[in-house]
Amino acid sequence: MNKKELDRMIAGMGQEDSVFSDKSALDTFGASRIIGRDEKAVELVRVLLGYRKGLAVPFVSVYGRSGCGKSSVVRFVCDNIDDVKCCFVNLRKAKTVFGCANLVLAELGEPNVKNAQGVGIATDRIGDAVAKSLEASGKKLFVLVLDELDALFLDKRGRPSDFVYNLVTLEEKLRKTGRMMCIVGISNNVMTEFDLDDRVRSRIGTSEIFFEAYSKKDVLGILKDRARRAFSENVDSAVLEYCAEMSSSEHGDARRAVDLLRTAAEIAGRKAERLSKTHVDLASKQMQKDRVGLIVSTSSYHFRAAVMALARLTFLSGDSWHSTSSVYKQYRMILRKEAKPLTYRRVSELLVELQNTGIAMSQTASSGRHGYGTQYRLAVSPESIGMAVDPNWWESLIARKAEFEAGNSLHGLLGNFGRKNYGLAALQKRNKEMRRDNWRKFSGLD
Ligand SMILES: Nc1ncnc2c1ncn2[C@@H]1O[C@H](COP(=O)(O)OP(=O)(O)OP(=O)(O)O)[C@@H](O)[C@H]1O
Ligand SMILES: [Mg+2]
Repeated sequence: MNKKELDRMIAGMGQEDSVFSDKSALDTFGASRIIGRDEKAVELVRVLLGYRKGLAVPFVSVYGRSGCGKSSVVRFVCDNIDDVKCCFVNLRKAKTVFGCANLVLAELGEPNVKNAQGVGIATDRIGDAVAKSLEASGKKLFVLVLDELDALFLDKRGRPSDFVYNLVTLEEKLRKTGRMMCIVGISNNVMTEFDLDDRVRSRIGTSEIFFEAYSKKDVLGILKDRARRAFSENVDSAVLEYCAEMSSSEHGDARRAVDLLRTAAEIAGRKAERLSKTHVDLASKQMQKDRVGLIVSTSSYHFRAAVMALARLTFLSGDSWHSTSSVYKQYRMILRKEAKPLTYRRVSELLVELQNTGIAMSQTASSGRHGYGTQYRLAVSPESIGMAVDPNWWESLIARKAEFEAGNSLHGLLGNFGRKNYGLAALQKRNKEMRRDNWRKFSGLD
C-alpha cells in the first residue's frame, strides 16, 4: 500500500461515517442511558435496601443470557444508590480463583497478594478493605458486585466454592460489628448450575433476579433511543422495526441489536445510500459469518464436530429442532476415524456451550414415554457453519444431497413410464427401496 491508497481509504471512511452525527451513541461497551428494565432495577434496590429493616441478604444472583442488560442495570443501580457503598468487579480477565481475589483487591484500591500467600490471606485483606471503606464513608452496607462470576468456576482446582464460602463468612464477621455486606453475583447461568457445596448453598440463600432476553418491543425502544442520537438523518422506523424483529426472534441480545444497526448504517454509508432493510440483511449476514468464523476457529475439534453434526442434521432433514440423541448420533457418524468419541454426557455439555455462544437455541420437549428431553436448533444458517468449519466437506455434502434428490425424482418419472410393465415396476420398486436405504445410511436421520 502506498500513501495515495491510504489517503483514499481514509477518505472512504469519512464517507462511511457521514451518516452518523454521534457514532458513540451506538457504542456497546456500556449504556449512558438505560431504556426499560425499571422493574429489574427496582427489584435489586428493594433487595439491597432490605438492610434498613435489618433484612440484609448476603448474596443475590443476577442471571440471564448475554446482552440482556444485567451488567448495565446493576452498574447503574450501584452508581446511583446513595445509601450504600458499592464496588463493581468484572472477573472476566481472571483465569484463576486467586486471580479473581486479586482483581477484587485491585478494585478496592489494595495491593495484590502474592501467590505464596494464598487465597485465604487475600480474602482477609478484602474483609479489612471493606470494613475500612465502610468506616470512611459512614455507610452501613457494602455491595460487592462480582460480574461474569462464571469465570470463577472455570478454575476447578482453585476451589471456587471455598472462595465464595470465605466471602460470605466475611459478611457474617462484619455483621458482628454492626455493618453489612451483600455480594451481587452476575452470571449467564443460575447459581444452582455451579459446583457449590451445601454449606455455601445454604448460606447464599435463594435471592435471585432473572433477566429475560429482550422482547421486540424492548429492543425497539433501545434502538429508537440510540438512532435518535446517532444519526444525522432520521432513520425510517420500518428499518428499526426490522432490526428489532430480527434481533428479538434470534437472540434478544441488545448488544447485538445495536451492533446490527451500526453495521447496517456503515454499509449504507459506504455505498452512499439511505439506510434500508437491505443493509440490515447484509449486515446480519456479515455479522453471522464473522461470529461463526470466530467461534469455530477458536474451538476444539469435538466442539466443531458437535456443531457440524447439528448443521448436517438441519440441512439434510430440513427440520429445525433436533434432540440431543440425534445430534449425538450424527456426531459419532462424522468423527474422524482415529478420533475417540466423547461420551453422550460430554457432548450434551458441548451443546449447552454452543447455546451460550448464541449459535444455537434450546427447548425442552416431551419425548413421549421417555419423559422430557432437550432439543436444539441452530440460530444461524447451517451453510454458515459448514463453510466456517470445512468448506470442502460442506460442498461435497450439498452435492451428495442434490444427487440423491435428482435420483429420487428421476425414479418418479421412470415409475410413471413403467406402470404397465410389471417387470419394470418391480425393478423400480426395488431400486426405490435401495435408494431409500442408501439415503438413510448416508444421512443417518433415523
Ligand atoms: N436496557 C438497555 N438500554 C440501553 N442499552 C442497553 C440496555 N441493555 C443493554 N444495552 C446495551 O447492550 C450492551 C450489553 O448489555 P449488558 O452488558 O448490560 O448485558 P449483559 O446482560 O451483562 O450481557 P453479558 O452476559 O454478555 O455480560 C450494553 O453495553 C448496552 O450498550
Ligand atoms: Mg455483563
